Amino acid sequence: MRDLISLKEEVSADLEKTTSLAALESLKNKYFGRKAGILTKLFEELPKLSLEEKREVGGVLNRLRGELMILWDQKFELLQAEELDREAHFDLTLPGKKVERGHLHILSQVNKKIREIFLGLNFSTVLGPEVETEYYNFDALNIPPNHPARDMWDTLWLATEPKKLLRTHTSPVQVHYMKEHEPPFAIIVPGRVFRFEATDATHEVNFHQFEGLMIGADVNLANFKFVIQQFFDKFFNKKVKMRIRPSFFPFTEPSVEIDIQLPGTERWLEVMGAGMVHPHVLEEVGYNPNKVQGFAFGGGLERLAMIKYNIPDIRYFYSGDLRFIKQF
Ligand code: PHE
Repeated sequence: MRDLISLKEEVSADLEKTTSLAALESLKNKYFGRKAGILTKLFEELPKLSLEEKREVGGVLNRLRGELMILWDQKFELLQAEELDREAHFDLTLPGKKVERGHLHILSQVNKKIREIFLGLNFSTVLGPEVETEYYNFDALNIPPNHPARDMWDTLWLATEPKKLLRTHTSPVQVHYMKEHEPPFAIIVPGRVFRFEATDATHEVNFHQFEGLMIGADVNLANFKFVIQQFFDKFFNKKVKMRIRPSFFPFTEPSVEIDIQLPGTERWLEVMGAGMVHPHVLEEVGYNPNKVQGFAFGGGLERLAMIKYNIPDIRYFYSGDLRFIKQF
């Protein structure tokens, strides 16, 4: 009987300390729980007593349970009222927490800018796969197996059967697109490319290129010169001096390399490979080289960003370093 009295005090003290509905619920378990509740356990002891004891203790126990449940109910109503009150006083008009807003990574910004400029010149944006077959990355671009020109693109091969690779340039998308479309058209292809190279300030294992391709009945290098001059002037927001040098690519003939010189500087910077699409490539995609022709070009996106924003090391783009990212 003494145990029962102290139990009532214990429960009252516990209820007093409870400040949340969740805590109240676990108290309920502790005392009234079906399996391990303290009161439940006491009821289970009853059959061990004599008939007389049973009557006496049973009565007290029942009353105690009734009282405790009333205490519990009162506390429940109190806490519930408090909770509703808190919700009713939630002030929607209080100012929110100040969180810093993020922004596009510099590479995404430059990518967007390039697409916008070319869109203004009526070029559509096209994308292609990053995992390529040897055929699209090399053969269809007039780079046969074992040709030394393949060494121009240090290739990351995948351990697949049949052989696949990570595209070393965006030029394979030229082939994809031409096989499925008829000229005339003008497209720009931004995308990630991969090279098996040691990294340093100007080389990364993966970087981005933007490929251009314009094909029609009489698209020529003078058209290219105009388009690309427009592009550079708009990209750098000033009149850019441009130099076109002869070069070699297996998929263009003639092939050229573009250098630019920014106002106020002496240095020529190589920024882009280009040329008239090679007749072998046109034939490969099912075009008649006597009827259609056009130019292609390919430039490095990071390189242009490095020039425009004075970024000294290509590895910054991929470092994830906020001190770098937040500057743009
Ligand atoms: N794909 C070439 C490279 O990665 C660039 C290029 C594109 C050259 C289109 C000519 C025409 O170096």
